[in-house]
Amino acid sequence: MKTYLNRIQYFCTKIHPVNINHMAVYLNDVSRTFGEYLLIPGLTTKQCVPTNVSLKTSLVKHNVGEKSPIELNIPFVSAIMQSVSGPELAIELARNGGLSFIFGSQPIASQAEMVRRVKKFKAGFVTSDSNLTPENTLADVIDLVNQTEHSTIGITDDGTPNGKLLGLVTSRDYRAEKDDLSTKVKEFMTPFSKLIVGEVGISLKEANQIIWDHKLNTLPIIDKDQNLAYFVFRKDYDNHRENPNELSGADKKLLVGAGINTRDYMERVPALVKKEYGDKVKVGAGNVVDREGFLYLVKAGADFIKVGIGGGSICITRETKGIGRGQATAVIEVAKARDEYFEETGIYIPICSDGGIVYDSHITLALAIGADFVMLGRYFARFDESPTKKVNINGSYMKEYWGEGSNRAHNWQRYDMGGSESLKFEEGVDSYVPYAGKLKDNLDVTIGKIKSTMCSCGATTIPELQKNAKITLVSSTSIVEGGAHDVILKDHNR
Ligand code: IMP
Repeated sequence: MKTYLNRIQYFCTKIHPVNINHMAVYLNDVSRTFGEYLLIPGLTTKQCVPTNVSLKTSLVKHNVGEKSPIELNIPFVSAIMQSVSGPELAIELARNGGLSFIFGSQPIASQAEMVRRVKKFKAGFVTSDSNLTPENTLADVIDLVNQTEHSTIGITDDGTPNGKLLGLVTSRDYRAEKDDLSTKVKEFMTPFSKLIVGEVGISLKEANQIIWDHKLNTLPIIDKDQNLAYFVFRKDYDNHRENPNELSGADKKLLVGAGINTRDYMERVPALVKKEYGDKVKVGAGNVVDREGFLYLVKAGADFIKVGIGGGSICITRETKGIGRGQATAVIEVAKARDEYFEETGIYIPICSDGGIVYDSHITLALAIGADFVMLGRYFARFDESPTKKVNINGSYMKEYWGEGSNRAHNWQRYDMGGSESLKFEEGVDSYVPYAGKLKDNLDVTIGKIKSTMCSCGATTIPELQKNAKITLVSSTSIVEGGAHDVILKDHNR
């Protein structure tokens, strides 16, 4: 640990606060961001191969010599944002070893329902997100399909995902252009009497066998009272794999976090965790960008601390309010405070670098300068599993991505709680990000890069990377040198 601290000082410009009379405190360091640093490769030994690299990392505080009560299998968490962390993303990320925090800018009941959906997840068994009643019309069906982009609709007595199953509608049951839009669902749905169903309790293998035997696309799974529990889809067959990295508890249920706030936590937390919670609930806190902020939250009892103000891709806080700090500088200072606190007390408090990751290499750098894990918004917003719409803009597919400090995010309060006027000013923008496909495909590539970089630095674990990393500041001209230069790139699209 000693060498670690020395090393941090080696690349971290020392901070000399000066406070004369009534003058403000001036920090002499420059606020720097990830793009201004490079890792210097170390000795790559025979053992340093990507298959030997472990990306396990602590999520919450623990004592010296003990393991963190919750460890992530990959150092990724998803941002607490409406446009990022819904149940689908939370399920897929946990299946791949990371953790989502379901957004808190929504009514307590709907957030609790999203947490419940993640907890109820069983590989291959999907809670239906498209449901109507027999009294709805074809127009409602078309609206719902456009909204969810899912073509299978569970028809239940009350239109809920777990109501009594009365039928099924798929794209084969209607012709959107020809049929009368006012036709009632009950007239064209496949009624329950003609459906082949499975019963709650059957295994995935059995469900897949029924799908195969009857040439089905969808198998509804019902309970003994005919209530819809899940769907099993033929198209998900590949997705039914065992996942060695899966992040689940002793009860085999996936882990999921949830965003809370300082206003309604007395009601929100019990609704989210349902049973007795006490100190079993781990609470991360943030965001801070300096030592004082870190120590304040430590005293308040935080289990991990989030670092970053103003660096998010959709964030305009620095422009609007003139506050913030370069993300790399902030992480370096807080990591130093965290290490000193650990030396003094024997208590390790993980820190999360939140926002501002543009390239995959920034993730490795954030870890090397001391973050235990990173929180990403833009990165995850691009995937199929994020909760926003995929749209075609001038021939390219995009996903919507908006900040929690934008009017769009704040509208839920106006519409759902009848309160709070529109924001006087915004701290986030409403934007698009290029659509990038499935989470798993992208994550596998990113993880491959991180592991390979770690091997180049002679590290097979995150603590080793933090201990051994050698980091250099780069000049603006050497940033140009870092990209392809002085060559004419071939156009692969031709
Ligand atoms: P990104 O990964 O660079 O897109 O940053 C995501 C992070 O930006 C989130 O985890 C939040 O900390 C932060 N953030 C989210 N919405 C806003 C906003 O509206 N204004 C400022 N920061 C935001």
